[in-house]
Amino acid sequence: MAGQIPQRFIDDLLARVDVVEVVGERVKLKKAGRNHSGLCPFHQEKSPSFTVSADKQFYHCFGCGAHGNALRFLMEYDNLRFPEAVESLAARQGVEVPREGADDPRAQARERKRKEGVNLLELSASFFRERLKMPEGQGARTYIERRGLSPEVVRDFGIGYAPDGWEALKRHLGEQGIAESVQVEYGLLVHREESGRTYDRFRDRVVFPIRDIRGRTIAFGGRVLGDTKPKYLNSPETPVFHKGRELYGLYEARQANPRLERLVIVEGYMDVVALAQFGIRNAVATLGTATTEDHLGRLFRMVDEVVFCFDGDRAGRQAASRALETVLSQMIDGRQARFLFLPEGEDPDTLVRREGPEAFEDRVTCASPLSEFLFEQAAEGRDLERLEERERFASRVLGAIGRLPEGVMKSLLLTELSRRTGVDQSSFEALMPREEGVEAMPPEDVPPELAGTMPSAGEGASPASGAPASLGRMARALQLLVHEPALVERLPEDDDWCDQRDPDAGLCREVVRLLRAGGYRSAQVLLAHFHGTPEGERLAMLARRAPLVPSGLRGAELDNWVAYFQRHRRQQSPQEAFDALLARERAGERLSREERQRLMVLLAELKG
Ligand code: UTP
Ligand code: MN
Repeated sequence: MAGQIPQRFIDDLLARVDVVEVVGERVKLKKAGRNHSGLCPFHQEKSPSFTVSADKQFYHCFGCGAHGNALRFLMEYDNLRFPEAVESLAARQGVEVPREGADDPRAQARERKRKEGVNLLELSASFFRERLKMPEGQGARTYIERRGLSPEVVRDFGIGYAPDGWEALKRHLGEQGIAESVQVEYGLLVHREESGRTYDRFRDRVVFPIRDIRGRTIAFGGRVLGDTKPKYLNSPETPVFHKGRELYGLYEARQANPRLERLVIVEGYMDVVALAQFGIRNAVATLGTATTEDHLGRLFRMVDEVVFCFDGDRAGRQAASRALETVLSQMIDGRQARFLFLPEGEDPDTLVRREGPEAFEDRVTCASPLSEFLFEQAAEGRDLERLEERERFASRVLGAIGRLPEGVMKSLLLTELSRRTGVDQSSFEALMPREEGVEAMPPEDVPPELAGTMPSAGEGASPASGAPASLGRMARALQLLVHEPALVERLPEDDDWCDQRDPDAGLCREVVRLLRAGGYRSAQVLLAHFHGTPEGERLAMLARRAPLVPSGLRGAELDNWVAYFQRHRRQQSPQEAFDALLARERAGERLSREERQRLMVLLAELKG
């Protein structure tokens, strides 16, 4: 991973580009008074409700609420991650993006490697596509036709054919000067230890390229034309391909609709492709593995709703139980997971062809919400009239609830459990398994003003009991910003309210600056910005954990924290305050005018 892009560079870049120009290159704009307007590229519309303001350097759509600066626009429109959007803007300006710590030779080597692999995989993908059109691709073409795939989806998904024979691809890549060892490393060639021989991994198969979110080919899946085993062959783990993280069809889904709201997780390549052919372009498939937390983390960064799709048989039920286990910890408020079971003997491919896309969409719309599936599954095969069975039912549900992040969903499920079992809710709360490593927070950790805004777990409890207490004070403030970036507007202009002694202070300041510079309304941008760094992990952790306070009260809670920090800061000794400011300046930070003045005052105070 390349180094971090300095925030100062981003600010300068934004000051130099014109959002009207950036948007204007991609969307037809007309001048209307001080602003420009046009048809919104992010939703379907007939009359323009999309405006771009040169004064404010923002775009805003009154129809769908899309909103942001030039960087945000590039991320959304061109499907770029934050660093990529910065690269793209910088390239327009003809400037190089500086990276902190980029001269780390290990990072450079990794980056070189990544480029090399992507190039080789791209070459292979076009080789397979070419072969499908040639005479030797006849069998594959017949197969594709028999499976009912249209030329359009074959094109959109870049489907190809790996010819029969042992060395077709190997020879082709060899001619392009690509070493065998590299072909082996990226999973295209198989190396036999005993004989030392190498041969093509994919032979006489229909090949599906697996692409990353930017559309770069990172691996392949290949299906036999007949009934031989294994039916599907996937690329092995390589430097650019990790099965537990990648999803087939995600790139194509985003291409088809940059403002996805829901993603459907299906099992196979053919399912994704068949659904797309019938206009259902939001399906993705895991690659022969169960859904992992990494998969879900990815999906939930893009959409709020995920629908799991399973076969109606026993294996499907089991897969659904595993998916439920995995998704629980991801269910922060505002997210939704639902479970769809197909009739026995069908998969999405066969079903959409038989019933048509509307019927399939209806099934998706009616899929069971997580809560329903959870209760249903815990009750399965139990006679809830019997006390013992009811107890087992309750403990199973409680186990699941215990893995949910704090939030409204958790309370609602507890209420529902109590309704279904007739047991008082407070008894369940006492039984709830606690998060690991969580002890009760000392009362002095909470500013007294907060006591009223914190939900209390019962009489006599400290105001924040039940809270994941391992979070420090600053982390709590940061957490609020991550969940509601718009709250940044409530913060004081200068950032010296941040308690320098708190380990999260530096990150908090950076987040505040980023939010202000970008006008971001989504935590995704923040997470993308810090992706792959320890700060990114910290923020992701905070994002996964729902704040204790319901959303209407979070502004007030943040105000309280800031007031608390400010009071606390004044209690810093002048020496401490001076050291902290000085340390920040020495670390290369630009202090605000107020902070500089304060530094002078402190200096005078200490000298006098
Ligand atoms: P299925 O066996 O359900 O096949 O595998 P399918 O998707 O319905 O395929 P068609 O319709 O017969 O062509 C589901 C997924 O499991 C993985 C693949 O990712 C496949 O899409 N799989 C299956 C393998 O990796 N290897 C196999 O041998 C079989
Ligand atoms: Mn199938």
